[in-house]
Amino acid sequence: MNLDSIEELNQADPGGMLRVLWNLPEQCEEAWRIGTEAVFELPTGFDQVVVTGLGGSAIGGDLLRVYATSEAAVPVLVNRDYRLPAFVGPRTLVFAVSYSGNTEETLSAYDDARARGASMMAVTTGGQLAERARRDGVPLVIIPGGISPRAASGYLFLPTLAVMQRVGLLGDAGPSVAETVNLLKEMREELGPQSPENRNLAKQLARRFFQRIPVIYGSSGTTETVAMRWKGQINENSKAMAYFNVFPELNHNEIVGTEKPAAKLKDLELIFLSDPADHPRVKARLEITRGLIGERVGAITEVAARGGSKLARAYSLIYVGDYASVYLALMYGIDPTPVKLIDALKKRLSDFQ
Ligand code: F6R
Repeated sequence: MNLDSIEELNQADPGGMLRVLWNLPEQCEEAWRIGTEAVFELPTGFDQVVVTGLGGSAIGGDLLRVYATSEAAVPVLVNRDYRLPAFVGPRTLVFAVSYSGNTEETLSAYDDARARGASMMAVTTGGQLAERARRDGVPLVIIPGGISPRAASGYLFLPTLAVMQRVGLLGDAGPSVAETVNLLKEMREELGPQSPENRNLAKQLARRFFQRIPVIYGSSGTTETVAMRWKGQINENSKAMAYFNVFPELNHNEIVGTEKPAAKLKDLELIFLSDPADHPRVKARLEITRGLIGERVGAITEVAARGGSKLARAYSLIYVGDYASVYLALMYGIDPTPVKLIDALKKRLSDFQ
């Protein structure tokens, strides 16, 4: 496929995922405003924060978790299950996040949090989650609907960041959000459809991933969520298999698995995500790992974060991965927007009593 033909790209993208991606900076601006202007009453003095959600609605929780690791005095945990961990109680702040508002695991975890007397907030476009929050007097942040949950990462994540700040769990993230928005505006000129493949990293990566299996390596505490995000976006947008792992853990197991089956390993396209805040020993690990396994896999490409703040750096990498996953879908002749298997599974589950 000619990735430089806007006409071909638009034809192959009837759901308009490229347009939604282009608007991510504006989405982030609006999402931050929604979070900073939301009207709610919550106590202070939490011992921990839990974000409960699934898929595209959970990844924002992971972004929050990693952000908070170096910034907040309390831990943030992400729950992707029907039940919450035993520690959840009245001193826990639980964000129930579901774009549709109808994800059964999230609704179940919502009920669980209520039963345990946790302080709660719901973030959703509507659905049963909004209904329950209204019924129960739980603070509710309504975000705009009409796009895929995974394309709504700004809406799903930034309101929780703003609320964390407003209840005193984090310092002012406003300057980081402003930097992120500006950086993404700059980056879309480089990554967007109008930017030719010979200078467009996302198109180049899609070309590398085509007919291969992307394996994304991030690092604990910095790029781990981004690695997971790239994998998820390739799965859902490109309908293609992809994997991720994190340094330093992968140096203690996965690295050993690069011997067999030797011929098939050549089909792996490895990405090393790097960030200036990676631990110096992790930086060394990236280099050493490249030297040890470089010959065994298809190729290794390093993609470095851009920007100053932690938030901008994470989003700079997310943007590259999001665009690459959409271009890869289009190369495969796949409409990036529908996720028929997720829909079919949810439908079967709802029929399955
Ligand atoms: C679909 C997507 C999925 C959903 C997940 C949970 O675009 O990203 O991963 O996010 O199935 O659904 P919601 O977000 O509606 O709770």
